[in-house]
Amino acid sequence: MPEPTLRPIGADDLAACTAVFYAAMEELQDRRREGRWPRNEGALERLFGRLAASHPAGAWLAESDGRTVAFGIAVERERLWFLAFLFVEPAFQAAGLGRRLLERTFPSGGPDAWRAQGGVLATCVEAIQPVSTGLYARYGLVPQVPVHLVTGTPRPGALAPLPDALAAAAFETLEAAGEGIVLADALDELDLGAVGHRRPVDHRDDRDEGRRGWLYRHRRSGAVIGYGYAQPSGRLGPVVVRDGSMLEGVVAHLMTTVQPAGSWQLVVPGPSAALPALLRAGLRLDGSPAILSATEPMLAAERYLMRSFALP
Ligand SMILES: CC(C)(COP(=O)(O)OP(=O)(O)OC[C@H]1O[C@@H](n2cnc3c(N)ncnc32)[C@H](O)[C@@H]1OP(=O)(O)O)[C@@H](O)C(=O)NCCC(=O)NCCS
Repeated sequence: MPEPTLRPIGADDLAACTAVFYAAMEELQDRRREGRWPRNEGALERLFGRLAASHPAGAWLAESDGRTVAFGIAVERERLWFLAFLFVEPAFQAAGLGRRLLERTFPSGGPDAWRAQGGVLATCVEAIQPVSTGLYARYGLVPQVPVHLVTGTPRPGALAPLPDALAAAAFETLEAAGEGIVLADALDELDLGAVGHRRPVDHRDDRDEGRRGWLYRHRRSGAVIGYGYAQPSGRLGPVVVRDGSMLEGVVAHLMTTVQPAGSWQLVVPGPSAALPALLRAGLRLDGSPAILSATEPMLAAERYLMRSFALP
């Protein structure tokens, strides 16, 4: 077999990358006798496209005989470099291709130069996948925090509601009232405190894909205490609050803002203050966790709910 060649991912390659993703993931799930996830090619292609467009230099694929057999997508957000996806077709695994692609997606100058300038590198790995965990750890991205997929529907009244002292305002209501700049500044400030970088591009893309955002403030002082998103698909997050004790009330409020078709899905760091409350309310841990591997602690895990495993 000739050695695969690498090239940047273009808009026409997204379907081929999706095929590689499912081939690699389903082979892994079959090997472990786990159930396969339901396929959702359209949503995955949109996500790949969104991420690649936000940082084209981090999106690479490998071709063999003109066919896509592996791909990697990483994004950069200020000081954060985050590997969103790295997948190799089963027949091409364990031959150094994952490593070659990973090195292509790294920041220009490489991981050491990035870190020397104050940068952080991070990714989410499957806890039960030693190959990827080991691959990233060699570059200093070491396992830091377990991250759980939590799914289900809370029993009515089981989550403590948002305290009366706090008010929720939909992002679009704030913008219509001329408070768009106040909102953008508040999101920047909360993101800097919780994940160490600003990310207006992700807020824009989240809203474009149907997530609805809410800002939480003290009624009397107007002080901002956090924000959160909910989506009719049932995805809830990202959520940032200034204090972990506020997370339960914010989640309870977000769950009143849309009626999901199925169950809720939250990506919850192990130390999150929300985890005990969600489990007591009847939600369940869905499968084994992922692990956030990073070159240094990079998020305020106790007061944060992630957007997804592919993007914090
Ligand atoms: C994970 C994946 C992307 C890696 O790509 P790959 O082409 O198979 O990997 P490579 O051959 O480039 O490198 C794997 C590295 O992991 C190392 N590795 C393998 N098993 C290991 C273990 N148990 N402990 C530590 N390191 C290990 C290998 O030694 C190799 O490093 P080396 O080149 O220094 O020897 C690919 O196997 C894949 O797509 N797997 C299925 C899907 C998946 O698990 N995706 C990741 C989800 S987080």
